[in-house]
Amino acid sequence: MIIPIFSTGISIYNLEGVNNSEIVEYVKANSNFNKLKDVKTILTEPVFKTLNNIVEEKINEHYHQIYNNKYDVVLVEGWGNLNNDDSITMPHIHTTGIISAVYYPYAVDGDLTFLNPMVGLLSNQKFDMIDEYNPYTSEYISVPSETNRLVIFNCVLSHFARCKTKSDRISIAYNAGIKK
Ligand SMILES: [Fe+2]
Repeated sequence: MIIPIFSTGISIYNLEGVNNSEIVEYVKANSNFNKLKDVKTILTEPVFKTLNNIVEEKINEHYHQIYNNKYDVVLVEGWGNLNNDDSITMPHIHTTGIISAVYYPYAVDGDLTFLNPMVGLLSNQKFDMIDEYNPYTSEYISVPSETNRLVIFNCVLSHFARCKTKSDRISIAYNAGIKK
């Protein structure tokens, strides 16, 4: 039996009770497409209050499955993304927190792809060695983007988004840090 000795993981939730239409309206009205993001406003903007509370609770659940209860985590940044923004379609990491999350108030296509941070371990792996990919053999993992879906992951796990060019997909991204 193989014992996993290093690992990372994501949490996926389908949220209920979030007023998606208000959030979609806000992001479209405050479009920052391909511009530098304002990462503070939505943390205190009333339209996002319910979502922010749920996301912070779920991020804490994720964090406490990995770490002890000495600390909680708190949202430190949040911003909206519209469609295929340049900043989300390139592989990137988030350097300002410990746990990140992405929520989709509207998404009907595309996905969020995570890249294996230990890709060197896949050396000499051939396609015909694999019937079904598993955590030891996967170069990447893609999570379909769907309305109401929340995805939580380690901030420095490299990832990028893809959707159809004409898609109206909207995502809200968050970074959470250790609560002092
Ligand atoms: Fe990101």
